[in-house]
Amino acid sequence: MKNTERPAFHGSDLEQIEKYYHIKKEEITGFGANVNPLGLSPSVKAALAENLDVISRYPDRGYASLKAAISDYCQIPTSFVAVGNGSTELISLLISQRRARHAVVIGPTYSEYQRELELTGGQITAYDLKEEDRFELDIPDLLAFLPEDADLVILCNPNNPTSSAVTQERLRALAGACRARGIFVMVDETYVEFAPNPGLITAVPLTRDFDNLMVIRGVSKFFAAPGLRLGYGITGNKAFLASLAIHQNPWSVSSIAALAGELMLRDAPYIGKTRRLIGSERERLTGILSGFSHARIYTPYANFILVRILKEGLSSFQVFEAAIRRGMMIRDCSSFESLEGEYIRFCVMLPEDNDRLMACLAELLA
Ligand SMILES: Cc1ncc(COP(=O)(O)O)c(C=O)c1O
Repeated sequence: MKNTERPAFHGSDLEQIEKYYHIKKEEITGFGANVNPLGLSPSVKAALAENLDVISRYPDRGYASLKAAISDYCQIPTSFVAVGNGSTELISLLISQRRARHAVVIGPTYSEYQRELELTGGQITAYDLKEEDRFELDIPDLLAFLPEDADLVILCNPNNPTSSAVTQERLRALAGACRARGIFVMVDETYVEFAPNPGLITAVPLTRDFDNLMVIRGVSKFFAAPGLRLGYGITGNKAFLASLAIHQNPWSVSSIAALAGELMLRDAPYIGKTRRLIGSERERLTGILSGFSHARIYTPYANFILVRILKEGLSSFQVFEAAIRRGMMIRDCSSFESLEGEYIRFCVMLPEDNDRLMACLAELLA
């Protein structure tokens, strides 16, 4: 099958898969959505069930209690925080309000940045991470690359789909150089809490020192709550935060999402359990995959692993099909622009599911 004839499925398109492959969506293990396999925390679930009546009230317009929980969780002042309907709303608000003349997107990456930028009409330039650098960002090379008129840099850290990450120390150098050139930096940290050491990666503390920086996060992946639609943004730029607030619909975070967010971010046992599960399984899986002769992997910092297929004649779509026919949905990465070659991406699920996927991949790639 030629590239152009491949159906492209987003990680969460289980309905489409159901129709296309005639497999019931309940029977599919979602290795493509990058969502914590533990599911919703049982204590959050119980507390929400007991407090469903919050739906009968409008949320607090200022989301004071939710912002206090975010402030504690991220160790930054509440005055730095914006909340939104998933990180998606904040990405959209940030991009539309920056109205960048010339944005630089570090890729291959999540496609929504490009989509939002196209709506604003400015110039967009892609800076490609290099496979020979294992997709790790070379800051001096990026700085030399940035066009004269660039005014926005977008990066995802850890990055989707490469799972590579930039350290806070190097982000500090980037933010400083960008500030000197009048460039605003957006860092999408949707996956940062899965990193082996999030404290070494996160740009949140830098928001105290750089007003040309905004960090965006959400609860969809780490807290297994993509249907809740809750995200937050952190910046020390008070004027920019105020302009975001003016353009945001009131109550865009529902009262149930606001309550759930507070409960999740304070749920230390669940956070610990998730970190232990993802950490140990990620290590186990990278060990197995490293032994495959027809695959190359890149050190993963997120809860997913990018694999390059090195077998002549074997495409990412063929591997995708082999997995989906066994009820496992992985991501065929052929739709990611600037990812030359055959790649698949899958997230860490429960050990027994991971074993099934490894057995399937071993038949093709070992
Ligand atoms: C890098 C990245 N950012 C943001 C999102 C969207 O997250 P949310 O559900 O918080 O809108 C995704 C979802 O796949 C993602 O991969």
